[in-house]
Amino acid sequence: MTTQIERSLVLVKPDGFARGLSGEVLRRIEAKGYTLAALAVTTPTGEQLAEHYAEHEGKPFYEPLVEFMSSGPVTAIVIEGNRCIEGFRALAGATDPTAALPGTIRGDLGRDWGKKVQENIVHGSDSPESAAREIAIWFPNL
Ligand code: TYD
Ligand code: MG
Repeated sequence: MTTQIERSLVLVKPDGFARGLSGEVLRRIEAKGYTLAALAVTTPTGEQLAEHYAEHEGKPFYEPLVEFMSSGPVTAIVIEGNRCIEGFRALAGATDPTAALPGTIRGDLGRDWGKKVQENIVHGSDSPESAAREIAIWFPNL
């Protein structure tokens, strides 16, 4: 495997934050061997969410997603490490927390709450391009 030091943007979403799971998510990131490059608690603005979820605008889950994501604080984290973008997506598990495998963050800690949007505890960037774009939204000074 070639060396590919990357950064990825992780959010502990409002459901995970409210349930006190930020520490558990950080523990799993650090146990995996990734390092923390930035960490902040913030309540997302509509402007930040419009940029962050631009790819999903117009989809049926977009409005409830933005409403959910602006409902309270999130823990925003920049992680760093070789292939950490793919690695964190593996730690997070599948988007649907009911289907996410046990052993993953979503599979161990998430479930379907019968809402219009999947409340699935974490976000993780899905490519180097997304990571660069998203890190600039949440940490403009990094
Ligand atoms: P997406 O980027 O497809 O998933 P992921 O977070 O795994 O990268 O979707 C963004 C968020 O939108 C997802 O975390 C939860 C929500 N969502 C739904 O509520 N319903 C859906 O059918 C999809 C695809 C996403
Ligand atoms: Mg995504």
